[in-house]
Amino acid sequence: MLNQSKIKNQFPIFSHKKDGKPLVFLDSASSTQKPKIVIDVLKNYYETSYANVHRGIYDLSEKSTEAYEKSRKTISKFINAKSAKEIIFTRNTTESINLIAYSFGNSNINKNDEIIVSALEHHSNLVPWQELAKRKHAKLKIIPLKKDLTLDFESYKKLLTKKTKIVAITAMSNVTGTIVPIEKFVKEARKYNAKILIDGAQSVPHLKTDVQKIDCDFLVFSAHKMLGPTGVGILYGKEATLDDMPPFLYGGDMISEVKQFNSSYAELPNKFEAGTPNIADVIAFEKAIEFIEEIGLENIEKHEKSLLKYAKEKFSKYPEVKLYTPKDCKNAGGILSFTVKGIHPHDLATIFNEDNVCIRTGQHCAAPLVESLGEIALNRMSFYVYNDFNDIDIAKKSLKKALKLFK
Ligand SMILES: Cc1ncc(COP(=O)(O)O)c(C=O)c1O
Repeated sequence: MLNQSKIKNQFPIFSHKKDGKPLVFLDSASSTQKPKIVIDVLKNYYETSYANVHRGIYDLSEKSTEAYEKSRKTISKFINAKSAKEIIFTRNTTESINLIAYSFGNSNINKNDEIIVSALEHHSNLVPWQELAKRKHAKLKIIPLKKDLTLDFESYKKLLTKKTKIVAITAMSNVTGTIVPIEKFVKEARKYNAKILIDGAQSVPHLKTDVQKIDCDFLVFSAHKMLGPTGVGILYGKEATLDDMPPFLYGGDMISEVKQFNSSYAELPNKFEAGTPNIADVIAFEKAIEFIEEIGLENIEKHEKSLLKYAKEKFSKYPEVKLYTPKDCKNAGGILSFTVKGIHPHDLATIFNEDNVCIRTGQHCAAPLVESLGEIALNRMSFYVYNDFNDIDIAKKSLKKALKLFK
């Protein structure tokens, strides 16, 4: 187990109680809380060091640029990219995927080409591909889910053809917590020369990620789901692939030379970063990564698996509870979705909230997946470094209370 109290103490939000009740935050898959060092960097930066990047020749601007680019380097090392040029800053995972769907998609996908996604996708990794398929009269194919909530690899192999231009799949589901063995999926896509995008929004914060080992063309994730600020998304792309793609947004900072009627564009990564970027939040994100690395991703993964196992044991004791998680914890991250017979998820979450327990309810931005499970909505608990067994015990007490109320 991680040293929970030491970790929790570093997150100011946990010192605030509601009616004397401690905060039990079980919604990190949506967005995580922020440690003090991340909050402090933001405050200090605005108070002492703020200036725009990439343009001033005065000290403040040069230092800002240095810190901004240092963060890019730290991120590239964190996922073992070959070069910091392969890291593009966006607003979030959603924007990263849209950038690829527009830039790569518009210039490489044509009539009757095929795009493959999976049945586990978040709307962010589904809707942009639906729209691209419509724009280009291409075909969208979906890898089905097996009863055990893992992806059907054999069906995937049959979906791939010479017309497959891109495979866009999640590495970890935000609903079932299913961990997808992405390397296997990449290898198969390579046989058809298809590009492959990994949605790492849920996996990168929790599992060690090595883009060179995975050999994916793109990996996307969000800072706010890994202790960092909101407003920072990462798009990793192989340098050669990004080089071949046209810019997504046009304007300042992404140009090389501008004439009245024509312009040429900057090299990577600036080519994809038009306008003033989210400087402070990018700089603060570096601290979040350092925080995670200090704990160690292997320790985080182990910790979350033990929380998942514990929560499964505690919650499955109630016959009214139906869990939506792979049977084997080996195939799942720290996410536990469930329903409670006779209690609508929104009612359950309201009762949990009375005890200052935050869980997520609804379709989790994955409506087709939730519907395919035969549910209209699910409850979801998700864990991160600051959670402990006591959090689950408190949530279990809230569940017991709800069951009594709805008897
Ligand atoms: C698997 C997955 N993909 C994409 C997203 C979208 O992330 P963002 O809202 O940061 O764009 C999420 C957010 O929950 C997610 O869980």
